[in-house]
Amino acid sequence: MELLKRKIEDEGTVLSGQVLKVDAFLNHQIDPVLMLEIGKEFSRLFAGEGVTKVLTLESSGIAPSVMAALEMKVPVVFARKQKSLTLTDNLYVERVYSFTKQQTNEVTVAKKFLSADDRVLIIDDFLANGEAALGLANIVKAAGAEVAGIGIVIEKSFQPGADKLKAAGYRVESLARVASLDNGKVTFLNNSVS
Ligand code: G4P
Ligand code: NA
Ligand code: NA
Repeated sequence: MELLKRKIEDEGTVLSGQVLKVDAFLNHQIDPVLMLEIGKEFSRLFAGEGVTKVLTLESSGIAPSVMAALEMKVPVVFARKQKSLTLTDNLYVERVYSFTKQQTNEVTVAKKFLSADDRVLIIDDFLANGEAALGLANIVKAAGAEVAGIGIVIEKSFQPGADKLKAAGYRVESLARVASLDNGKVTFLNNSVS
């Protein structure tokens, strides 16, 4: 997606540790016009998949997910990140380890918001090691529902997440695919979507 790639080039910065900072338009301040275009692109890519619900993870997945769900006219559910839960009877719970943040969260979704006849589009802002997306996919499976696909705003293609998700059989569509962040410079894969 050209608009997104241009935004990353113009406003993204590369931090040490192979982290791309995009808090000017995605992770802190949000560009709603860009988010709407991102939502339209996800809607276009996953049209025909029979999506009934979008599932994401708080907090940075919510903005692109709401725009995609608005286009697709389906609800969004965002999984919550919590620490050491006690009452989990009404929740799907997955433990998700973040390599980037070096912490484990319990990720939860209320059982009442997913049902066995749902076809769920999982959306997230970043794909690095794939742990968040796999955790969300496990929650979909626990509900007896189907993963219709996985939509990612920024894929770090030099990390193993995309390959892991594809090997698990999921359709992954990433709007920008970053081949490298070496030497403080963002290099995209040539075959990025559109
Ligand atoms: P994984 O889910 O693919 O395994 O990724 P990982 O654990 O490595 O990433 C955990 C968190 O770090 C996620 O945010 C993810 O979006 C973020 N992240 C990973 N790589 C980058 C990067 O290069 N730049 C930025 N800005 N974020 C990155 P989170 O913990 O879910 O937090 P939130 O932003 O949703 O609040
Ligand atoms: Na994030
Ligand atoms: Na995220």
